[in-house]
Amino acid sequence: MTLAPTLPTESALAALRAKPPARGPLKAPWQVWRGADGRLSALRLAALAFLLLPVAIAVYDFTTAGFGARPVNDVIHRTGYWTLMFLLTALAVTPLRRIGRFNQLVDIRRIIGVGAFIYIAAHFSLYVADQKFDLGKVASEIALRLYLTIGFVALLGLAALAATSTDRMVRRLGSKRWQRLHQAIYLIAALALIHYFQQTKADVAVPTFVAGLFGWLIGYRLLVKLRNNRDEPPTWVLLVLSVAICALTFVCEAIGIALVFKVSPWMVLGLAFDVDFSMLDTIRPGWLVLGAGLCVVAVDLIRRRFAKPRRATSRPAAVMRSAQ
Ligand code: HEM
Repeated sequence: MTLAPTLPTESALAALRAKPPARGPLKAPWQVWRGADGRLSALRLAALAFLLLPVAIAVYDFTTAGFGARPVNDVIHRTGYWTLMFLLTALAVTPLRRIGRFNQLVDIRRIIGVGAFIYIAAHFSLYVADQKFDLGKVASEIALRLYLTIGFVALLGLAALAATSTDRMVRRLGSKRWQRLHQAIYLIAALALIHYFQQTKADVAVPTFVAGLFGWLIGYRLLVKLRNNRDEPPTWVLLVLSVAICALTFVCEAIGIALVFKVSPWMVLGLAFDVDFSMLDTIRPGWLVLGAGLCVVAVDLIRRRFAKPRRATSRPAAVMRSAQ
């Protein structure tokens, strides 16, 4: 019997054509430093290094100066602060991706978001440890102290987002519902900011600066929504947004200080130009917000000059990418 070579049938050819393209090395779900193609990703490694930065700083501070009289409380503050930083970074991914014409950036949003959840889980666990694991007391404190109630609602929200951050959950919920759910990140960040302001006893300069950055991100989002097209807002619009949010930061800061210390808000506003550039901590948060906005404007100008125009992305592909 001879094994004569036979020509492939039309259906066999179709099956071959439908075969998925060859993939890179296999990747286990926990290997977050590998990209979707299974290869080592420099961007993901940078994101992981960023997430570990607070640990490195804490180890350095501990070995050089120690954590003070209440070490657990010190670490509660650190974890809370960095959770907020990571939340804002996750929110900044889309504007930076669009303005910097750097689509790959979306690849690290999920890592940063899940990182934020890990830090907040540590923040809460340390609080429980600080209360000597007395869960009854923890529950009553959360119910009685408004800043803890607000923090707890934000924590639950972040837990829900972390639990639904997998590809499987994106498919299960459907892209529209998943996106609507994950819009809650803005509300969660707002609650976290209120919690931050409420527990800050003296100088509110840092929370005000963080609130100004958050205001810029909200402003950008509203701009994109109002313009109702997928094109990037022009550079002058980003400039106007940055100046407007800077002015708003000054006004809100002046009103807040005026209310708390019973002074004239005009007097507080007058101090805006009283800056000693040799002492960074005398620079008012409004100027720092303007500085951050101008950096974004500079990125936009440079990328407009040198980057290739953005390619339109199909809706489902954009949703799957934004879920990553
Ligand atoms: C997403 C949720 C939360 C975020 C983003 C967050 C963030 C923060 C931030 C930024 C600070 C101040 C850090 C600093 O001073 O540099 C802080 C302090 C603190 N947070 Fe949270 N927090 C959250 C939830 C919670 C929860 C659920 C609890 C406990 C039930 C809690 C308890 C505390 C405590 C006890 C402090 C220190 C207050 C003090 O020393 O007087 N936080 N948090």
